[in-house]
Formats: sequence, C-alpha cells, structure tokens
Amino acid sequence: MTIFAHRGASRNAPENSLAAFQTALDQGACAIELDVQMTRDQKLVVCHDLTLDRTTDRRGYIKDLSLEEVQEADCGSWFHDDFSGERIPLLQEVLRRVPPSVLVNVEVKNHPCHQGIIEEALLELVAREGRQESVLYSSFDHRVLQQIHRLDPSAKIGALFYANILEPWQYLEDQGIVPFSLHWAEEYVSQELIQGAHQRGLKVFAYTVNQGDRTRELASLGLDGIFSDLPREMAGSLDGGR
Ligand code: G3P
Ligand code: MG
Repeated sequence: MTIFAHRGASRNAPENSLAAFQTALDQGACAIELDVQMTRDQKLVVCHDLTLDRTTDRRGYIKDLSLEEVQEADCGSWFHDDFSGERIPLLQEVLRRVPPSVLVNVEVKNHPCHQGIIEEALLELVAREGRQESVLYSSFDHRVLQQIHRLDPSAKIGALFYANILEPWQYLEDQGIVPFSLHWAEEYVSQELIQGAHQRGLKVFAYTVNQGDRTRELASLGLDGIFSDLPREMAGSLDGGR
C-alpha cells in the first residue's frame, strides 16, 4: 500500500513546509502529498489554504500577494516555536528536496483567476525539473485536470472527489479526463468502488487516514494507498504494530 505523507509529516512539523517534507523523508516515506497555488506574480507555492490566515503570522489571499510578500510570512510558529522562521516553500524547492524515487502528489488548489495559467506553469516547472515520472497531479477542480490532460496526455492524473459519485470512471471519460487514480474520501471507500476501479486499471487512494485499525481495514479491502498526517505510524500499523 502506498502511504502519502499528507502535507508532509504534518503531525510532526508544520504542514506543507520543507521541515514537514524533510521529516517525512527522514521517516522513510515513499510518497508525499502537497497543495499548490499561484501568487499574484504567478509563482507556484506550497500551501493548503487560499489565505495565509490559519497557518502563518500574516493575512490575505495568496493570489493577491507577490512571492516576496508570501515568503515574508512565518509558517512555522503557529505549529511550534521550534519551527519559527519557516517560510512557505516554492514548489521548485520541494521538488529539489525530494528525490525522484519518491512520488509527489501535487494537489492544485486553484483560484478561478488562474484558470488556464496554473496548469501550464506547473507542467513547465515539472518538465524543467525532469520530474514528469514522479509527479501525480490532482485537484477537486476538475477543469484543472481536464486542462492538464489536454496539455500533456501522458501526465499522471488523480481525480479528487468528496462525494460518493456513481460510476466515476464514466464521468471522467465523459469529461475527457484519463486518470491514473481516484482520490476518495476515506469514509466513502467501498469494496465495490475498489473493484470497479481495478477492473478499469485505476488505483484508489483514500484521504485522510490517521488510525492504524482503519489503515489495516482499508488494506484488507484491496485499497492501493492512503494519505496520512502520520505516515510512519500508518506504515508501522501495516507491519503489525499500532
Ligand atoms: O489530496 C488529498 C487531500 O489532501 C485532499 O484534501 O483538503 O487535505 O487538501 P485536503
Ligand atoms: Mg491536499
């Protein structure tokens, strides 16, 4: 089972920071998940929320701020003093920190004002960094997925859902999206979904799982992977521990 370090090892370090990704790597993670969005000057930065408000000492929408302004924010202190001075990283910095052997799920948190712009910038950056093979793109915004597929039919795409969609593969085909994986809310995962996906050559990954018992239960259903804030502990739970 693939265990994605969700926003890095985000129980041990501030989410989506270089510290969180480094911690995940140090713990032996073989896959990480991160959230990407675009600044006013069209730089790709790694942050979950559309605003700085929850996870930094500054406020405002990232889309309205320049990279310089975004990087003035401290994104570590809210989590713990040990991480004070941590800065919101560029996607490029994270890709350079994470070795190509580790799968990187880039989840696009798109603002409509960057529609059509963010997809191109992302593909360009990933190509420039030579990471096409180790990046999996996902988004709840399926226009983004459609556009990524149009721009690069070989791009690996994970379709994110937060609903119990019936026949998701049919819906995706109708929209011209060819997915590698379905990214499903863990509470809606069923054997029927997993079997249906596998029959069509698709993987199913569930978010967000932080309980060992649940991880084992999902593994026994044949699930391909989970997103977890506690990747080391969930890997341990599959090895028989808790
Ligand atoms: O990509 C899986 C998961 O991260 C989706 O939800 O809100 O944690 O980005 P969220
Ligand atoms: Mg995410």
